[in-house]
Amino acid sequence: ATNRYEAESAPAVCDGWVASNHAGYSGSGFCDSTNAVGATVQFTANAPAAGTATLAIRYANGTTANRSADVAVNGSLVQAGLGFEGTGAWTTWVTRSLTVQLAAGANTVRLAATTASGLANIDYLEVTTTDGGSPSPT
Ligand code: GCU
Repeated sequence: ATNRYEAESAPAVCDGWVASNHAGYSGSGFCDSTNAVGATVQFTANAPAAGTATLAIRYANGTTANRSADVAVNGSLVQAGLGFEGTGAWTTWVTRSLTVQLAAGANTVRLAATTASGLANIDYLEVTTTDGGSPSPT
């Protein structure tokens, strides 16, 4: 299953401003984080069971500089300096994916900027898990 978590809506926490001034986002806006090292956006994502999941982070970066971010799951660093390269315009949104391990139930996924420019504008997190359950009864 794939679930989408918007950056502008609880339970996500945007360390900056919820903005809507660049078209093309999903939902009602996006997270425009503080322009500083350590600026964050944190999502809470549910997994039906412990296991491997694919995270897809949709973002826009209208500059030509990579706004890399450290990715932490449940407080543990899982990927240092994940690249969020320029997308050509603040209205051009793309997704960056990575594979992580999630626990059953609620998991926090946090991006923390590693450059003084802060994060790219972050639209949402999508989490794809393999449920692995029994087929539905007929
Ligand atoms: C511009 C742009 C913002 C962006 C910011 C930045 O102000 O409108 O959406 O977040 O630059 O450089 O972080």
